[in-house]
Amino acid sequence: MNKTKSIVAASLMLGLGLAACNSDGVHRNPGKTYAPDMTYSRAYDAYTGNPNFTDSQTSRLPVTGTVARGHQLPDHLVEGDTTSYKSFTTTMRFNADELKEGNRLFNIYCAICHGPNLDGQGPLYTTGKFAAMPANFKDGKYLHMPVGQMYAAVKYGKNMMGSYASQIDYKQRWQIISYIKKVQSENGGDAFAFGSAVKATDSTSAKPQASTAPTADKASKDATIKKG
Ligand code: HEC
Repeated sequence: MNKTKSIVAASLMLGLGLAACNSDGVHRNPGKTYAPDMTYSRAYDAYTGNPNFTDSQTSRLPVTGTVARGHQLPDHLVEGDTTSYKSFTTTMRFNADELKEGNRLFNIYCAICHGPNLDGQGPLYTTGKFAAMPANFKDGKYLHMPVGQMYAAVKYGKNMMGSYASQIDYKQRWQIISYIKKVQSENGGDAFAFGSAVKATDSTSAKPQASTAPTADKASKDATIKKG
């Protein structure tokens, strides 16, 4: 009985195996399409022609004067304009959680050079792999640096430091800078000015709007994130 069973099983497997091999590399069409809408997209692909528009482009530019939801307005900070670097700032204010996030982002993007203690002694520098001394944010030279200048360094880079514009969006840049300013304020820098009155954990507060930035600045985000 058992023998018959195994003979049947063996021949079945052999049959299936042969059937599977029998393509000769020719029969590539599966024959039936299970979900044609998925296999053959009905939507126009981004870079294919489109008969619905006179210029036949599927990818459309945003309507003039509009900003897509979740996208950002330009910040109008021009590379090399050191005068405006000094006055450029934000009305954003960050609560404790947002500053914590700034700290996390700093550790991801900046600490490798500037050091987790913000003293310019990041591992890339101390191991000698990166020759230029990164800014020591606890040094007098940087303690009172205008936030706009810091913002410009993140957006455009500074000498050996590359631009982080493509990795870090408008809010994140300010979050990181606020975190740096917070640490600086505890190390002889200016009084910290970017904290919100309401702590993130303070859910009993009657004024939760204090933790968000005024609308003007919220809207004034950065469309020039894609450099150039
Ligand atoms: C690859 C190493 C490296 C990384 C990563 C890096 N920096 Fe720098 N940064 C430098 C160096 C080097 C300098 C000094 C540039 C100079 O003055 O020549 C510098 C300078 C600065 C300055 C001072 C700018 C000025 O005008 O003097 C700021 C602010 C700054 N970095 C912020 C940041 C922030 C914020 C991040 C993370 C988003 C970051 N850096 C990531 C290497 C780095």
